[in-house]
Amino acid sequence: MKILILHGPNLNLLGTREPEVYGSMTMEDIDKALIELGKELGAEINSQQSNSEGGLIDVLHHARTTADGVIFNPGGYTHTSIALRDAISAIEIPVIEVHLSNVYAREEFRHVSMISAVCKGKITGFGWHSYTLGLRALVDILQK
Ligand code: DQA
Repeated sequence: MKILILHGPNLNLLGTREPEVYGSMTMEDIDKALIELGKELGAEINSQQSNSEGGLIDVLHHARTTADGVIFNPGGYTHTSIALRDAISAIEIPVIEVHLSNVYAREEFRHVSMISAVCKGKITGFGWHSYTLGLRALVDILQK
C-alpha cells in the first residue's frame, strides 16, 4: 500500500511558523512519525511539499498512477483553489483533507474549503495528530 503525504504552502516552515497555532513539530518530524506509523500499518509513505498550486497539481497527477491514496494538507489553497479540487476529482484515488489547526475556530474565510466535497473525509484541529488520524483512516479505507 503506497500513500502520499502532500503538504501545501508554508508548511515547510512548521516548527517556527506560528507555533502557538501549528505546534512545534517540523514538517520533517511529522514525516518521520508517519513513516514509522506506516510501517506498523503496512503502508509505504512518500512525502512531498510544494508552495505552488501548480506544483501541488503536478504531484497529485503523478500520484494517480503511483499511490493508492493521499493525505493532503493544502494550507491556504484549501480556501481558494478550484484547480486543486478539480485535480482531486480527476485522480480518482481517495484523498483525505487534513489541517493541524481547527479551521472552524479561526477566521471565517478558513471555514470554507474548496476541496472537502471531493475528499473522502476531513480531519482538522488535532495538531500533527490530524495526519496520523488521517493515515489510520486511509489505511482502513484501502484495506476494505
Ligand atoms: C492549515 C490551515 C489553513 O487555513 C492555513 O492557511 C494553513 C495551515 C492547517 O494545517 O491548519 O496554511 O491548513
